[in-house]
Amino acid sequence: MPGAIHAEGLVKTFGDVRALDGVDLDVPEGTVLGLLGPNGAGKTTTVRCLTTLLRPDSGKAVVAGVDVLKHPDAVRRSIGLSGQFAAVDEYLTGRENLQMVGRLYQMRAKAAKARAQELLEQFDLADAADRPTKTYSGGMRRRLDLAAALVVSPPVMFMDEPTTGLDPRNRQLLWEVIKKLVSGGTTLLLTTQYLEEADHLAHDIAVVDHGHVIAQGTSDQLKARTGGERVEVVVHEREHMATAAEVLSGFGKGETTVEDHMRMLTVPVTGGAKLLAEVIRELDTRGIEIDDIGLRRPTLDDVFLSLTGHIAEEKNAETDKETVK
Ligand SMILES: Nc1ncnc2c1ncn2[C@@H]1O[C@H](COP(=O)(O)OP(=O)(O)O)[C@@H](O)[C@H]1O
Ligand SMILES: [Mg+2]
Repeated sequence: MPGAIHAEGLVKTFGDVRALDGVDLDVPEGTVLGLLGPNGAGKTTTVRCLTTLLRPDSGKAVVAGVDVLKHPDAVRRSIGLSGQFAAVDEYLTGRENLQMVGRLYQMRAKAAKARAQELLEQFDLADAADRPTKTYSGGMRRRLDLAAALVVSPPVMFMDEPTTGLDPRNRQLLWEVIKKLVSGGTTLLLTTQYLEEADHLAHDIAVVDHGHVIAQGTSDQLKARTGGERVEVVVHEREHMATAAEVLSGFGKGETTVEDHMRMLTVPVTGGAKLLAEVIRELDTRGIEIDDIGLRRPTLDDVFLSLTGHIAEEKNAETDKETVK
């Protein structure tokens, strides 16, 4: 499989820390895998092993048809990597950064220039192209970093938390760019801490915790394990609870739960915002006054809770530091 990613039993330890504890992954050619997990789960370490930046203690990996441990140079030639921390030269302009990458990949000056211009436009950076990147906002840097990874249009891409720390507008912009990219047939492994992001971009999601994959499936499959989306209603009058429960049961895909003391009713649904609007209309028609209503979608925490029985715990900042190996 020329564009696929395959990993088997990857183990990587740093002193006492077992960062990877037997990671198995399969990303078929032309698909997107979302590697979803909390801080410290082993996402970056996995990406670093697959992109030849780090040698695993054991296990094997094949990327773009090439054995990562035996032929790292050949792997490097077929992949693009956009790291968790934007790796652009602060003193160069956006345009210079992109041209430099092109030159590093042995493009001719003219071709590198043309490619840089193309990417600057595609990533909405044309206006800022000739400013030093140290004047760029976080979102702009991320976009430039991603553009830099695409200078040579590699068949396999890795993106490590491409939108962490970005505001919603920039996140949306990046999502659009990534979608466009993968519609062109690129195989992508993307790490994220957000279920919503994996949901938007990935065909398949692998959930990682403590250095191994604890669940893999489509977003719908994972959500189904958490009970999926729910409508939550708080009614104003206690005597309306029975009627409200009847209404919700009519829309629900499962049992309606009633929390009497909070006047709250919850029911699993499918159909999202459209269905929510219908529920509101029906409650209104029946004359049921509500204090609050909402659609609750499963978060990474919900997925974790249902898979592991515990909430995704934050590692302390100390263990998150990089040490050079
Ligand atoms: N270079 C390193 N030296 C020591 N420990 C590391 C190093 N890189 C990662 N770790 C540890 O390995 C575990 C996994 O880290 P990482 O792969 O960065 O997780 P994630 O990207 O999911 O947040 C963490 O406990 C982290 O502290
Ligand atoms: Mg990371």
